[in-house]
Amino acid sequence: MVKPVSKILVVSVDALQLRSTLRGLSAATRGEANPFGIKFLGAASRQEALELLHVDGEVQALMAAHATDRATFDARNLIRAARALRPELDLYVIQSGMPDHTATEHWLADQVEGFFHADERDYRGWWRVVQAQLQKKSRTPFYDALKEYVAMANDSWHTPGHSSGDSLRGSPWVDDFHSFMGDNAFRADLSVSVDMLDSLLDPKGVIDEAQALAAQAFGAKRTYFATNGTSTANKVIFQTLLTPGDKLLLDRNCHKSVHHGVVLAGAYPVYLTSSINRRYGLFGPVPKAVIFAAIENNPDAKALILTSCTYDGLRYDLAPIIAAAHVRGIKVIIDEAWFAHARFHPAFRPTALESGADYATQSTHKVLSALSQSSMIHVNDPDFDAHSFRENFNMHTSTSPQYTMIASLDVGRRQAVMEGYRLLSRTLDLAAELRQEINATGVFRVLELGDLLSDEIQHDGVQLDPTKITIDISKSGLTVEEFQQELFDKYHVQVEKSTFNTVSLLLTIGTTRAKVIRLLDALQRIAATKRVPRKLYRVPEITCATELHFLPRDAYYCNGELMAMIDDDEQPNPALIGRVCADQIVPYPPGIPALVPGQVITMENLRFLLGLMKSHKRTDMHGVVYDGYLPCIRVVTQTEAKSLTRLPI
Ligand SMILES: Cc1ncc(COP(=O)(O)O)c(C=O)c1O
Repeated sequence: MVKPVSKILVVSVDALQLRSTLRGLSAATRGEANPFGIKFLGAASRQEALELLHVDGEVQALMAAHATDRATFDARNLIRAARALRPELDLYVIQSGMPDHTATEHWLADQVEGFFHADERDYRGWWRVVQAQLQKKSRTPFYDALKEYVAMANDSWHTPGHSSGDSLRGSPWVDDFHSFMGDNAFRADLSVSVDMLDSLLDPKGVIDEAQALAAQAFGAKRTYFATNGTSTANKVIFQTLLTPGDKLLLDRNCHKSVHHGVVLAGAYPVYLTSSINRRYGLFGPVPKAVIFAAIENNPDAKALILTSCTYDGLRYDLAPIIAAAHVRGIKVIIDEAWFAHARFHPAFRPTALESGADYATQSTHKVLSALSQSSMIHVNDPDFDAHSFRENFNMHTSTSPQYTMIASLDVGRRQAVMEGYRLLSRTLDLAAELRQEINATGVFRVLELGDLLSDEIQHDGVQLDPTKITIDISKSGLTVEEFQQELFDKYHVQVEKSTFNTVSLLLTIGTTRAKVIRLLDALQRIAATKRVPRKLYRVPEITCATELHFLPRDAYYCNGELMAMIDDDEQPNPALIGRVCADQIVPYPPGIPALVPGQVITMENLRFLLGLMKSHKRTDMHGVVYDGYLPCIRVVTQTEAKSLTRLPI
């Protein structure tokens, strides 16, 4: 295994002090076991220190000389700037003279991990403190316990039934699965019977510790590990905050899990119409003016949920939105499914929690090193009801969670804290290079922020996460399907998603230079074939307006009836127009419902869905039922409609 390097940056404007401290620290550590690869380096000014923190992702801690009389150096500015740049750093103050216990010194104490006294020159002691803190921060309590348990080679007299893989090993039929997955995949697949591995449903041991470390890392008061993705995380929060009939303000084009949460919680949704970039068929953020108006007009709303950043990397200027909601006592939930990395590089900050959100849900698995379905729920709500949350969390969580997923969240957090900044800096460099080289093909063009924003959100302070790259392929002479097929068949490249004229790439901390080179090679070769650009078939206009007749929950729980989407002439079935949908109809990807339960079906909706089904055969259409070849939608019957409470228009 590669050994880590942990650089400790010592900052002093006093050249003599800097030199003697560096010398003293290096001498003190010589000959000591050094598992974290601690090295010391110096900076002679605030500016030099900040530059080093910026460019050197291996710096893990900073020791700043600080004089109480401030004649020599006031470390407060540096500490403030270092915290803002890299919140995961360990910060220490080397105090000269006697500390005065004024408010400003208290402020300093709140911001740093600890103090040393310059005159004592106890370098060995300082080094021990720094090392102990690195040890504490980089711990993986759950993963360690899991490894320890596996190493004990205990006999399994409990679930799962494969019994540490013994049911598969040596089988003439299924041994192949065992060898493909590897021994430890089965040995580490354990159950709640194993006391020393704690319980996800009532954590008091190593899971509790791992969650506490995650809360600290992500800037939350509490963090919960969710093993059924952000899809479940959103539902848990809704059920905690909302009782049936409570108003929820939500981006109409939120992920389908949010709309499922509305059904489960029995919420009264107030849909906020998001911006749409029709040129590229992309949903964007809800305009600020729409959000502010909704908050103003619905002071009785209990919660607001927005997606930031979106699938395409667009993120809100959240602070003023959250502040406006809080003035009305509305709780704010931010779906950060695509933004779990944000805390670990200033290019992506502020995060939702840093902007004041009460809850943030993150698919750690989408962008950091966690296994699929492994997500986190971060909580900063000052009125948090831990008991109610726990009940709802447990309602949605299997009593047999996958332990390797929990371990992957523990490890994913460790990595983000210890090397997230360095890896994200590399990812950002690769993204910049990729953008430039893709544009240099003269055929493919990366959409920049200005291209992605529709007119109505141009002045909303929206920013772009540059690790999400949307490429306009319309000059390539290929349809999106042909382009994706060629990339896959000839070049072994699989992209994240597409629209009728774009494909999207997701760069993460796992993106390597080799992958970038291979992708660029593929794009250059495709570009070199100089095909004549073709007219691309536009997907029918995405629909916006949502006329809701009944609460989604009321419509969903109707028996309903199936009605065909097309008539005998294969035209949109006119009988469906004006009927109320009972299910969610969701083109996937991107997973944004075209119809929600309780919504009146319009000709526009139907044309959009049928057009999509014809032109995008690869898009799944969740919610559509096939009666033979006939696509149908479940709608509320006329009799059922009479018995439901009609919502005010
Ligand atoms: C905005 C958004 N929220 C939530 C989810 C669900 O996340 P998960 O796959 O972790 O369940 C997705 C998935 O694509 C998403 O795009």
